[in-house]
Amino acid sequence: MAQRTIVGIDVGTTKVCTIVAQIQEHGRLNILGVGLTPSKGLDKGVIVNIDDAVNTIATSVEKAERLSGYRIGTAFVGVAGRHVSSLNSRGVVAVARSDHEITRNDIGRAVEAAQAVAIPTQREVIHVIPRAYIVDGHEGIRDPIGMSGFRLEVETHIVTGEVMAIQNLIKSIQRSGVDIDDLVLQPLASGEAVLNAEDKERGVALVDIGGGTTDIAVFVQGGIWHTSVIAVGGNQFTNDIVLVQQTPHHTAEYLKIKYGSAIAEAPTDEAEDQIEVEGFGPNEKKTISRYLLNQVIQARAEEVIELIYNEIRRSGYDGLLPAGIVITGGSAQLSRFDELMRDMLGVPVRVGIPDNLYGLSESIDSPSYATGVGLVRWGSQHGIAMLNSSSVNGERNGLGTSYDRFKNWLREFLP
Ligand SMILES: Nc1ncnc2c1ncn2[C@@H]1O[C@H](COP(=O)(O)OP(=O)(O)OP(=O)(O)O)[C@@H](O)[C@H]1O
Ligand SMILES: [Mg+2]
Repeated sequence: MAQRTIVGIDVGTTKVCTIVAQIQEHGRLNILGVGLTPSKGLDKGVIVNIDDAVNTIATSVEKAERLSGYRIGTAFVGVAGRHVSSLNSRGVVAVARSDHEITRNDIGRAVEAAQAVAIPTQREVIHVIPRAYIVDGHEGIRDPIGMSGFRLEVETHIVTGEVMAIQNLIKSIQRSGVDIDDLVLQPLASGEAVLNAEDKERGVALVDIGGGTTDIAVFVQGGIWHTSVIAVGGNQFTNDIVLVQQTPHHTAEYLKIKYGSAIAEAPTDEAEDQIEVEGFGPNEKKTISRYLLNQVIQARAEEVIELIYNEIRRSGYDGLLPAGIVITGGSAQLSRFDELMRDMLGVPVRVGIPDNLYGLSESIDSPSYATGVGLVRWGSQHGIAMLNSSSVNGERNGLGTSYDRFKNWLREFLP
């Protein structure tokens, strides 16, 4: 069997990560190349300077090409940022055939009807994902094709983003010499990398805590229920340390990663509590208290966890997530953050690390790379949405017309 090669590009606030992987049997990914570059031109998950973003993306793509020996033509690309929002919408149609057997065509019309809900003109549709079907009032049907009925309803999850933010992302990727296979909401990608079918069936929230944003996806009964992006992330921890400890930014980042803990414990030994670090001036040293450092971190961690909890509660599904919360993103590595979250929310919490990886997998064996790995997995599951075909027709710049994309979503998600 010819092995497919798929590329994912995670354009994050902190880093851009390009992953080239071959899809093998049993969901194994053979990692051929990884290109990692610190980000420039992004703020809270959104591109704010196209030239800087293009340089960063192009560097990351070149690195991955050099390592893999693979010429990257197209890629799956992650989207996030506060401009993204989601809603659940229901579409209803009468079953068309005279013998009342439900066909793909009925599903297509029902999904279209669900999508006809008011999507404001300044918003671009990123995903329309069917979650469940209702046939003549019978709920919870996952595959209605071939069933008999008069009335077919579909529940869909619709994700939209601001047109300009999405166009800037598309432009930056294309100017880096790469065409887009499809855009994927980042937490949905991360979910592909670290959640299994049982988690999603039982009810689980995926929370990706990056540098600039925290992305959330709630899965219930096997389907996506709620997605959102909130504008808090690891950068805030670092900024707090800069302010309170009066250190340069790089020192604060070092302190957070090396000595940080989301649970501050009073020192038993005064001497051990003291950390000597660089100050602002040349050769300036200063001593700071580890306990104070971690009090600052804990305060922010508690706030972030509260924001996450409120967001999950807003989805209407709190208390019904038996599989708990799976955290990814670089900030999921903050020492004892999972423990604090478990204590505060009283649900199971685990750090999600992408698995079933082979080849150059050591470099991405961490929660920071869940989105990148998940983009490749998403590509292997859902296939290509042919976004580029329409730019040839001079439709929208790069993204297909709503209808083109709509047809492709159908192909992606129909049973
Ligand atoms: N060991 C660690 N302990 C605490 N924080 C960490 C650790 N390692 C990385 N981080 C933090 O993780 C953040 C970066 O995470 P990540 O790489 O997931 O971000 P990103 O994907 O670029 O950003 P975003 O998804 O927000 O756009 C930074 O704030 C960094 O300080
Ligand atoms: Mg990220």
